[in-house]
Amino acid sequence: MQNSIGIFDSGIGGVTVLREILKVLPKENYIYYSDSINNPYGDKSDKEIIEICDEIVQNLMNKGCKAIVIACNTASAKAVQFLRNKYYTIPIIAIEPAYKMVYDHNYNDSTLVLATKGTIESEKFNLLYQKYNNYKTYLCPCVGLADIIEEGNQEKLEKYLKSNIGIYAGKVHNVVLGCTHYPLVQQEIKRVLGNVKFFNGASRLAIHLKEILEMQNLINQESEYGKITFIDTSNQQYRKQKRFYQFLKEEIKNEK
Ligand code: DGL
Repeated sequence: MQNSIGIFDSGIGGVTVLREILKVLPKENYIYYSDSINNPYGDKSDKEIIEICDEIVQNLMNKGCKAIVIACNTASAKAVQFLRNKYYTIPIIAIEPAYKMVYDHNYNDSTLVLATKGTIESEKFNLLYQKYNNYKTYLCPCVGLADIIEEGNQEKLEKYLKSNIGIYAGKVHNVVLGCTHYPLVQQEIKRVLGNVKFFNGASRLAIHLKEILEMQNLINQESEYGKITFIDTSNQQYRKQKRFYQFLKEEIKNEK
């Protein structure tokens, strides 16, 4: 669809980013590209991620997208520079772990950053971490968590959280949700960690996207309601699509 915003992730996690974008840009058209055949991105090499993202952006541009949103922290950390250099004619907006938000708002409190191994080990995240370090931060690579969320197995999820982040209960006040899948299980994380404050970069990204579109005169002037087209790369399109719209609806309902 021409005049759309292309948004992608390694699966349905990016719905947490789209939810925030819809709040500020409800009249745009969106193509959501759920690359679940390649899930998880978190354990892949830089080269693999760059190749995957290159193909996705090419694909979205062929569909006439006017802007691209990387709704995946891992892909942003490893591929955004490459993509911006190659596709310099189109705005590419990328999510990153909201560690600066902690620096701006809750600097004095102990902090846990949850993200994929790929994000935590990336140069991009490490620069951010060094710059805004509050020296009371634990970095926790959650290997396999995005996969479990993608799968939707509640029992497995609860077990995983207990054994992998349970040790931080009572030790941290701030939790950075550094993977776009994690806000989908915020309640479950809270049950393990207690009353923590969550930080998520999606709302800032949404405002930034709107500013960029306004600056470049790319705001959709025509349609009254935005249309969302969902594409999944695996052979589970129906199941993925169903969960994607469920999450989208649930989140919109929770906001109200
Ligand atoms: N949702 C992704 C992120 O924000 C990627 C998860 C994965 O595929 O490992 O990092």
